[in-house]
Amino acid sequence: MPARLLLASANPGKVAEFRRILAGVDVTLLDAGDVTLPEVEETGGTFAENALLKARAAAAATGLPSVADDSGLVVDALGGAPGVHSARYAGAHGNDQANLDLVLERMRGVTPRTARFVCVAALAAPDGQEWTAEGVLEGRLTEHPRGDQGFGYDPVFQPLGESRTTAEMAPEEKDAISHRGQAFRALRPAIAALLTGDDAG
Ligand code: IMP
Repeated sequence: MPARLLLASANPGKVAEFRRILAGVDVTLLDAGDVTLPEVEETGGTFAENALLKARAAAAATGLPSVADDSGLVVDALGGAPGVHSARYAGAHGNDQANLDLVLERMRGVTPRTARFVCVAALAAPDGQEWTAEGVLEGRLTEHPRGDQGFGYDPVFQPLGESRTTAEMAPEEKDAISHRGQAFRALRPAIAALLTGDDAG
């Protein structure tokens, strides 16, 4: 029977991305539908700290090796905001539309419009071993939302060298370049090694 790995996120958009990215790994993937995930306060000042807080708490609560990520949009002209506060920029956690509206409002007529999506993926084993990997997708903010794929700030984020926003890209196209895709692909060797008992380095 394949080993079990918990995807410790309550965000269905992210869980779907994790599942596609980890598709080649011989593992049974569990998610928030299979276990009760602990409530974790994201008190870290960096994406890495918050990703580790979430992965550690899930591993401790369930006894399962757990992966989590912390990610967000970093906008140069906003001094790096919304950054680690991306999910709750407009107040309520996870109100994607309000967050996106607030970024657009603060960026109305503002240049430069350079921004990046950043993701740190973390793997925590119940015995305390931990790994992290980071991915970055450079781009710029559009003036108006376009597209209905993806989630969060996707409708206003145009990757460098692309004419479309990430909300106009097919999910597999976004995975191939995305911050989360990069971070999870970088974490795959550690996941595979941990689950097969080899030294993950
Ligand atoms: P957290 O990682 O759950 O703390 O939340 C990250 C937040 O950053 C999400 O709620 C989105 O607002 C934003 N975000 C992260 N990755 C993406 C992405 O791939 N597309 C659009 N928004 C994203």
